[in-house]
Amino acid sequence: MGSNFIRFQLAKDPDVQIVNLDALTYAANLGNLADVETNPRYTFVKGDITDRVFLDKLFAEETFDAVVNYAAETHVDRSIHDAEVFLRTNVMGVHAILEAVRTHKVPRMVQVSTDEVFGHVEEGETDERSPFAPRSPYSASKAAGDHLCHAYAVTYGVPVIVTHSCNFYGPYQFPEKLIPLFTANLLDGKTVPVYGDGQQVREWIFTEDHCRAIDIILRNGNPGEVYNIGTGYRVPNLEITKQLLDLCGCDESAIEYVADRPGHDRRYALDSHKLRTELGWAPQVSFEEGLRRTVEWYKANQSWCDQVRSGAYREYYEKQYGVK
Ligand code: TYD
Repeated sequence: MGSNFIRFQLAKDPDVQIVNLDALTYAANLGNLADVETNPRYTFVKGDITDRVFLDKLFAEETFDAVVNYAAETHVDRSIHDAEVFLRTNVMGVHAILEAVRTHKVPRMVQVSTDEVFGHVEEGETDERSPFAPRSPYSASKAAGDHLCHAYAVTYGVPVIVTHSCNFYGPYQFPEKLIPLFTANLLDGKTVPVYGDGQQVREWIFTEDHCRAIDIILRNGNPGEVYNIGTGYRVPNLEITKQLLDLCGCDESAIEYVADRPGHDRRYALDSHKLRTELGWAPQVSFEEGLRRTVEWYKANQSWCDQVRSGAYREYYEKQYGVK
C-alpha cells in the first residue's frame, strides 16, 4: 500500500521528493513502482527500519520534511503462526523511526496503523478515544507501536500523528489478504478459503481514498493527535466473497469453508467524524466501484500475481491452507 501512496504523492504534488525506504521482505516488490523508478523526484533505499545505525546515517544524509511509516508486518494469520517478526518490525521498528525523527528533528511523522488495535466491536463504533483491546499478536504489536508514538509525542514533543484505518484494498496488494487472495485464486481457477461462517464484518476503504486521507492528515493534521480513517462500508466476508465470485465469473462451488481463525475478531466499525469534520475528508470511491476496479487490475496483472506468489510464499501458503 506504501507504493500506492508514493505514486499518489508524485502525481499530486510537483514539488514533492520521496525517499522510499523498504526492507524488501516477502510482500514487497520493486516492480510495484517500476513506473516511477526513473522519476528524478523518487529515490529507493533498501534498508530495515529496525536498524538504528542505518536510520541515523540516512536521516543525517537527507533532510526530511516528513516521515510516513507504512512499513509493517500486517497479516494476522502470519502473526498467529509466528509473532516474533511482528514485534521486531511493528514495535522495535517504530521505536527506531521515532528515535530518528526525534534526534534529527523531523517536523512531522505519520504512523499508519489499524482499527484492529481496538479489538472487535460487538456493536456501535470505536472513536479515537476508545481503549485499545487488541486480540491478535498482529494487533497487539501495532497497539504497542501506537503507544510508543503517543509516549514520544508527550515525553519528547515528537510531532507524530497516528492513524487507525479500516481494512484497505486495491491494486498491488499482496495476495494474502481476503480481497486480493480471493481474487487471485478465483482468476487462477482455485477455491477460496472462507473462515468459519463468513459472517465476520470488516469496514473497507479503497486505496485511493486512503491515500487522500493520509495526505490530508500529513499536511493539515495536528501533531500528537490520532485520526480514524473509516468509510462506513461494512460488509460480511461472505457477501464480499459472493461479489468477487460474480466479478470473476465463478459460482459458489468455488467457496471452501475452512476452520475459523483462532481468536477471530467478529466485527470492526470506526467512527471517523473527526477526520471528516476537522480536516474535510470524505471517501470518494464506493465499495462496489473499488471492488470492480480492483478485480480489473488483478485480471490485467495475473503475471504479477504469479510472480509474487512464487517461492517461499507459496510454500507457506500451501502449508497453511493445504491448498495447491
Ligand atoms: P484479512 O484480509 O486477513 O484482514 P484482517 O484480518 O486484518 O481484517 O481478513 C479479512 C477478513 O477475511 C477476516 O475476517 C478474515 C477473513 N479471511 C477469510 O475468511 N479467509 C482468508 O483466506 C483470509 C485471508 C481472510
